[in-house]
Amino acid sequence: MSVKISGVKGMNDVLPAQVGRWHELEAVAREVFALYGYREVRTPVVEPHALFARGVGEATDIVSKEMYVFEDKGEDRLALRPEGTAGTVRAFIEHGAYVEGPQKWFYMGPMFRRERPQKGRYRQFHQIGCEAFGVAEPAIDAEQIAMLDDYLSRLGVKATLKLNSVGDPACRPAYLDLLRGYLSAHAAALCGDCRERTQKNPLRVLDCKVPTCQPVLERAPRLAEHLCQGCRDHFEAVQAGLGALGVAFTVEPRLVRGLDYYVRTAYEFTSDALGAQSAVAGGGRYDGLVETLGGPPTPGIGFALGAERLTLILEAMGRPVPAARPEVFLISADAPGAVAVLGLAATLRRAGVACDLDARGGKFARQIRQAERVGARFALVLGGQELAAGEAKLRDMATRAETPVKLADLAAVLSKGR
Ligand code: HAM
Repeated sequence: MSVKISGVKGMNDVLPAQVGRWHELEAVAREVFALYGYREVRTPVVEPHALFARGVGEATDIVSKEMYVFEDKGEDRLALRPEGTAGTVRAFIEHGAYVEGPQKWFYMGPMFRRERPQKGRYRQFHQIGCEAFGVAEPAIDAEQIAMLDDYLSRLGVKATLKLNSVGDPACRPAYLDLLRGYLSAHAAALCGDCRERTQKNPLRVLDCKVPTCQPVLERAPRLAEHLCQGCRDHFEAVQAGLGALGVAFTVEPRLVRGLDYYVRTAYEFTSDALGAQSAVAGGGRYDGLVETLGGPPTPGIGFALGAERLTLILEAMGRPVPAARPEVFLISADAPGAVAVLGLAATLRRAGVACDLDARGGKFARQIRQAERVGARFALVLGGQELAAGEAKLRDMATRAETPVKLADLAAVLSKGR
């Protein structure tokens, strides 16, 4: 009995027709990040559960509700990574990378969050992320945000940069007390989620999108007005740095992030093309995280882009998917031709010319249809007659124009045309 098994809900296949888009996102990332001195790191998708509980924060939705957690044969409690920063920090500490001074790393890969799947929100999604370790100065914040801006503009993606400061351990605790007091006093006007979060994670309340909560949240005390001098100076310097680099931004006093490790700079790039899931990238500074995870005190700042969200934006912009296509499709006209196309294909491929053929052979009409389907630029028919003459016709698939070409020259002619 055959059983059809479907993929897991919220986890997508990227089919060959779409994969060109992904290659483009990744290639531009590698190119731009290299210009700024970021080097790639690859870490496992499975990490100890404790890494995220301690790193991202027990009270966050990500850790408390959305992580895929499992026991490894009753030994270790493991989790599929819901984000890339904690694992990158673990690797940074574990390999003693901090002895080499400031480091800039990037990564790309799948992340897992058991969220309710919808457009732009999936259970397996992909991030392209960057982390800069070892620099506390605001210059790195500005440089990194400008790099992300640069990346998005190279792709032609228009996104709005929203910036905030979420304070640090010197000023945030007093502000949180103030905020908790305010929210508790207005609890009756807040939704159930907000009331629940007031004690555990009051900053997240500011991020609530429920319309009836907005009047209370708009009048809530603002962190920006309760920053310590150090945070205020830092925030101003980041803004000045962005101004000097020509990066447009808006200060969003209620911007908070869904992970606990942030201090000072927090930012997001949002796009209208994404509807309610509007953040295409998000990041910020996490100066205490390396120490929390057992390393020496090391400042850090990073961001991650959502690759699926980027593809949705590019699709909404009507941008065609870049596709790899064969230069030439070899068609066999008869039995000698069917043998010869394999040899000719081998010669062309050795010369770096992408070519394809229909290994089923058979009727000309079917072979030429296959040539069209794979998007070949040219087709060439090979049979006993062409082999004897040492010459065949190269058919331009778009114009149908045919040009005679010596078989011995084919590789040279086609590689010149590229
Ligand atoms: P995040 O804001 O949770 O930050 O995620 C970054 C980006 O990943 C989001 O802006 C969004 O584009 C994408 N994303 C998140 N969840 C989903 C989902 N369920 N489906 C599709 N896309 C999603 C972080 O993860 C931090 N680690 C970023 C960071 C790096 N901060 C410092 N360094």
